[in-house]
Amino acid sequence: MNPVDATVPGRVRPRRLRHGALMRAMVRETRLHPSQLIMPHFVLPTDEGREPIASMPGIERMGRTELLRRIEADAELGVRNVLIFGLAAEGEKDPHGTASSHAEGAVPRAVQEIKKHFGDDLLVITDVCLCAYTDHGHCGFLDEHGEVLNDPSLAQLAAMAVAHAQAGADVVAPSDMMDGRVAALRDALDAAGCETTAILSYSVKYASAYYGPFRDAADSAPGKGDRQGYQMDVANVQEAVREALLDVEEGADMLMVKPALAYLDVIRAVKQATLLPLAAYNVSGEYSAVKAAAERGWLDEGRIVRENLLAMSRAGADLLITYHARQALEEGWL
Ligand code: PBG
Ligand code: ZN
Repeated sequence: MNPVDATVPGRVRPRRLRHGALMRAMVRETRLHPSQLIMPHFVLPTDEGREPIASMPGIERMGRTELLRRIEADAELGVRNVLIFGLAAEGEKDPHGTASSHAEGAVPRAVQEIKKHFGDDLLVITDVCLCAYTDHGHCGFLDEHGEVLNDPSLAQLAAMAVAHAQAGADVVAPSDMMDGRVAALRDALDAAGCETTAILSYSVKYASAYYGPFRDAADSAPGKGDRQGYQMDVANVQEAVREALLDVEEGADMLMVKPALAYLDVIRAVKQATLLPLAAYNVSGEYSAVKAAAERGWLDEGRIVRENLLAMSRAGADLLITYHARQALEEGWL
């Protein structure tokens, strides 16, 4: 039998598989599904209140009443996974972020109400980090020179995770980047009888300029210095795989790469080196950049959002954390 001679013009035609929407849908290699999407929310330590975030159009800080209303409406659209960030109450911040583990804090109170209302119809993930609760804005304790202390910070982070789990969180997600925090959280959760609470580790979190809008939203910008002593150097990828493998060893249930779009190679590398579900966090600055261009009419928002989510998915992300989650389902962008 003669092999097909691809040099004969028109014999091999990749375009046959691009003819018509049904053909394209049938041979499509990557599909997006609402069950992959995770919608972040910023919750105030109050019942009432709605505060728009100037640098994140369409996103606001909400009191518990509005948060529940929003989650209910989003769930109707198919958003079933939420990631909750809390804000400290007035005058509550201190050097150790002790308010982060109070059972009456913004996150535990909100989680309790969400779980009371939605039960198993909604999956609740909580961010575990001290920066919204420390008066200096860093993600751990500081020494007298302003260096972030690793081991002394672990107990407070673990206490925060336990407070979230006891309020009913399904998953806790440490974003602080202290060494050994996954093991510390796992031990504390198990000791508190929360062995079914899963850990989604922000395994690979870069010291990125893309978090700017988030720090306005969460009121968590460091007062002095930056986060380069604990978040990763944006130039590194081998280190990312090492971080991910350490989290696997320490008992993480799911891993994360953050930010997403400037780190697609990292998503791919971590996916290939590990066997756990992998999340990509399409962060605040990535969201705001798309919003700003769309507001000016420079980009087609829906097509851009779909293209970006497909890119993360192609790279190897199983879960997609995005501030566009609700809008993507509402407008049928997937
Ligand atoms: C807190 C935290 C940050 C983000 C998630 N958790 C900010 C930071 O590390 O400065 C960023 C999320 C986003 O930009 O959307 N440690
Ligand atoms: Zn932090």
